[in-house]
Amino acid sequence: MTAIAGYRRYAPGTQPPHLHPPYVSSIKRAPSQPLLQIPYTLSEVTGPVFGPEIADVKASDLTRQHSGAPLGERIIVSGRVIDEDSRPQPHMLVELWQANAAGRYLHKLDQHDAPLDPNFTGCGHALTDAEGRYRFVTIRPGEYPWMNHHNAWRAAHIHFSVFGPAFATRLVTQMYFPGDPLIAFDPIFHCTADESARNRLISAFDWETTMPLHALGYKFDIVLSGRDATPFEDHHRGAKT
Ligand SMILES: [Fe+2]
Repeated sequence: MTAIAGYRRYAPGTQPPHLHPPYVSSIKRAPSQPLLQIPYTLSEVTGPVFGPEIADVKASDLTRQHSGAPLGERIIVSGRVIDEDSRPQPHMLVELWQANAAGRYLHKLDQHDAPLDPNFTGCGHALTDAEGRYRFVTIRPGEYPWMNHHNAWRAAHIHFSVFGPAFATRLVTQMYFPGDPLIAFDPIFHCTADESARNRLISAFDWETTMPLHALGYKFDIVLSGRDATPFEDHHRGAKT
């Protein structure tokens, strides 16, 4: 059988732990026993394989997925997927999901008393190019209340998933917006103990991708591993070395 490549674990404090009591749901979800590390099998490190056929324009432009334009502020979110040595990661599947401008997800479990938008689904995907770049056009998501504690509100955020060349390389994270006053009070943002690590979850306003008369640009690079790694929600799988 072929030798299976390993996946390096992250440095302590730079990734969110399973248990973070201020994030109340983590109390029930966190394992009560130490984790067992199960060796990766061939299927987890050799698939799936994504080709350009899976990504079309509408998949990466969430403002063009319906007959009309969604309500809200149109924005452009772009960045690069890179490894610990800033090497671009081409052909990565980047998926995104988010609330609409009113702070509501198109999901049966989201019963927030805010309107749905018939012109906004809130999901998209793109493949990174040869330089590891991705780009989405979307609308700025609204903040929304949740039941974590009294008067709890999530900072505005966009969920991201990145698939490398293997199931073992899937990483999930959230992007925040610079200057959002709710970030300071968001227990999910603060799950990551290391301040500089969690600040990597905040995108940067970007003139270069801002389009005149059209949309503001935000830059969000996703670093898969190493000292500057993005905090990931499922990092316990480890990142590709
Ligand atoms: Fe969310």
